[in-house]
Amino acid sequence: MKDLLMIDVKLSKLESYYAVGQLPDHENIKQKTLDLLDDAVYFKLKAKDDYYDDSISKLDWDDARDFERPWVKFFMPYIQDYLNALSFALGYQGAIVDEIWFQQYKNLDSHGWHTHGSNFTGVYYLEFNEQSPKTEIIEPSNQNRKIIPDVKEGSILIFPSYTIHRAPQIQNDIRKTIISFNYVIDYINKDTTQKINCL
Ligand SMILES: [Fe+2]
Repeated sequence: MKDLLMIDVKLSKLESYYAVGQLPDHENIKQKTLDLLDDAVYFKLKAKDDYYDDSISKLDWDDARDFERPWVKFFMPYIQDYLNALSFALGYQGAIVDEIWFQQYKNLDSHGWHTHGSNFTGVYYLEFNEQSPKTEIIEPSNQNRKIIPDVKEGSILIFPSYTIHRAPQIQNDIRKTIISFNYVIDYINKDTTQKINCL
């Protein structure tokens, strides 16, 4: 690798947030979504090298930009409504999902530390037992601080996409299924524009 440029940079804190909420339709759509995932095209991920340490029994990351997958066609309206509402509450007009995929973990599966693209990343806990390990995230402005958001089945966790995070190893025989997605925020909403014009 080429030598890194010597740079002089001053870092100042710019606070952001992570958000945890419940998908209102979780109980109504859980089984149908799981049934559709049973029929989905998937692959198994096993990666272990200097950077990656992943073992995921079923995922369809390769098709994350294909919005014609049957489970995506069923699920998208629910997550889109949620993201639009959340984005508006945060001062934006809406959200545009770039990528969406599922991951199913079985005993001893894990997903090592990594980041995503787009503005925000989301995790929907579709099938998540009380004993399932929770997502761990690293505070971007203090990488010595690990945060474990308080999620349960039906929760949607949102955080900035550059946030380092992982899914710790499962230590039991209970399957865990999450739907992950990356999205960009869609313009500033009018209330926010009016407010910030007065600053
Ligand atoms: Fe991730």
